[in-house]
Amino acid sequence: MKYLWKTAVSAIMAGSVCCLAQAGSENPKEATESSSILWEVKANRPVARINPDMYGIFFEDINFAADGGLYAELVKNRSFEFPQHLMGWRSFGQTEVLTDEAPFPRNPHYVRLSPSGHAHKLTGLENEGFRGMGFHAGKEYRFSVWARSSSDDVQKLTVTLVSADDREIGRADLTVEGRQWKKYSARLRSRATEAQGRLRVVYDRGNSGYADVEHISLFPADTWQGHENGLRSDLAQALADLHPGVLRFPGGCIVEGTDLATRYQWKNSVGAVENRPLNENRWNYTFPHRMFPDYYQSYGLGFFEFFCLAEEIGAAALPVLSCGLACQFQNDDMRAHVPLEDLQPYVQDALDLIEFANGSTDTEWGSLRAEMGHPAPFGLKYLAVGNEQWGREYPERLEKFVQAIRQNWPDIQIVGSAGPSSGGERFNYLWPEMRRLKVDLVDEHYYMSPDWFLQNAGRYDSYDRKGPKVFAGEYAAHDYDHAKANNFKAALSEACFMTGLERNADVVRLATYAPLFAHVDAWQWNPDLIWFDNLRSFRTPNWYVQQLFACYRGTEVLAAYGRDRQPLKGQRQLYASAVRDGQGKRLILKIGNSGEQMQRLDIRLSGLKKFRPEATLIRFQSEEWDAVNTLDDPQHIVPRSGSYILEGPAFSFEAPARSFSVLVISLD
Ligand code: AHR
Repeated sequence: MKYLWKTAVSAIMAGSVCCLAQAGSENPKEATESSSILWEVKANRPVARINPDMYGIFFEDINFAADGGLYAELVKNRSFEFPQHLMGWRSFGQTEVLTDEAPFPRNPHYVRLSPSGHAHKLTGLENEGFRGMGFHAGKEYRFSVWARSSSDDVQKLTVTLVSADDREIGRADLTVEGRQWKKYSARLRSRATEAQGRLRVVYDRGNSGYADVEHISLFPADTWQGHENGLRSDLAQALADLHPGVLRFPGGCIVEGTDLATRYQWKNSVGAVENRPLNENRWNYTFPHRMFPDYYQSYGLGFFEFFCLAEEIGAAALPVLSCGLACQFQNDDMRAHVPLEDLQPYVQDALDLIEFANGSTDTEWGSLRAEMGHPAPFGLKYLAVGNEQWGREYPERLEKFVQAIRQNWPDIQIVGSAGPSSGGERFNYLWPEMRRLKVDLVDEHYYMSPDWFLQNAGRYDSYDRKGPKVFAGEYAAHDYDHAKANNFKAALSEACFMTGLERNADVVRLATYAPLFAHVDAWQWNPDLIWFDNLRSFRTPNWYVQQLFACYRGTEVLAAYGRDRQPLKGQRQLYASAVRDGQGKRLILKIGNSGEQMQRLDIRLSGLKKFRPEATLIRFQSEEWDAVNTLDDPQHIVPRSGSYILEGPAFSFEAPARSFSVLVISLD
């Protein structure tokens, strides 16, 4: 045995890859292929530069990923703008929904609380949150409300955090003064941990007159980076720990909308949160067996927040905009889309977005960015127009965007779409069109079986090296035999496939797994990279694969071949890629074995001046194809790291059955 797992649990990268106590992971009983397979790595022959942004994340508000998920707001329908204005609320006593003299014109509804008329009766509102509200014992929560009194008299409100079994577990009292709308805030500390809590606002019995309330909000005090309009810290941390190179947002199909009226409109997602109009979520009725009529977008997590998040986690921002076609899966009638002659406002939205991100502070949109707290440009370099589009109508529209963007912002890299699938008529039509339009990147999507991923590790080997590059913008292995679980089988097949992305880093410039988040009690689509409930979250095996690639990305791909001068892309179920990083300081080998037998590789490293014999081996392996992580066992399967002693530049390497190994060799 040439490697020993370290004895302490410690993090080698970004706090997530564990080093566990036991030696070796080979199963002595495991069948082993008797002959070995040659793999030669030419350490001094780089064949492609790897885009530093290569491995990233794709955020879409699906599965309650934004409201109810990453966006830390705990109140659902905080502005009473859902079509059923009290959806998510329980009102009691004397309440009325009104709109006259509303403080926020784009969210005009508010609630009037009046005396119940009896000393033993109450008036108030109670919010159910998103499948409940999560409160942690000892943690603080920031409550706020816009309110006004009926007169110059003061009105009193009591705010409580309520447990599922109706106990008061946190409390604050508020006094509303005067006839003008004002924002009132209070901090509440929760005395208990509660996954299904509620927020209750009670109008004091002694009041006379009435109190009007609007935009009732409750955030945990410890949001990611402490932002007031912030993100849930454990979920944002799970993104930061991926070390993503790029953040694609805000979707997905939500960009297109169920109809044009409900497409994502970035301009509605910036400025004061209280005045961002509500949008219906594209995923509320998509699957009849998973119907979520209470799924809306508050736009609280809007484009400004996405840009800030990207900056804070070190990722390049890649916004996606509507090209004027409503979701084509849901609209096959051309009348549902914008006629070409009316497309200009959509094109203008794209130009204005670039100005919002990059324009100087004396421009209209650049000044809004500054007003929102970010005078420095965000340095936007990518912009996608359209998501999963197809047909002649797409290039016709995209062309208008390309012309306008090239003319006004020539440095922006434009991303076009190759449609919703990995091949076929639509795909074959769109690729030449994307070449004709000279977009910079083409966004490919594939949700396929683990076998497809294994069989397609060579997909990009024969891609045209001229013309647009590839953005693998949405992909995930769907293991239909196991209810599309985020299991080890899916993750390993993705890892093996990704060695093919890496080997072809000259043509594949960006890659993002999809979707990103799912609430365990409110999801529409699986698999997903990160799952959560109101208190906890866990990282799937697929998450660890993404992290391994991002953390061990390297800067240059190296020439590496088997005996027949072919890359390892499935021979004996082995997959491999080799990169170096820094100024050639590290050599990183990635080796996947998707088979049931241990395989032996004769690895020959040529062109090395020197190397340290003690290397680091990170191994992701499971005895069970269907192994998963869960909320109760979030670390059931994680990669483990140990040291690995190299015998020399030519050495024999054992790739255990069902494993993915990353061998990091120091060249110092
Ligand atoms: O990722 C989920 C959905 O899959 C995306 O919204 C869409 O682009 C694709 O169909």
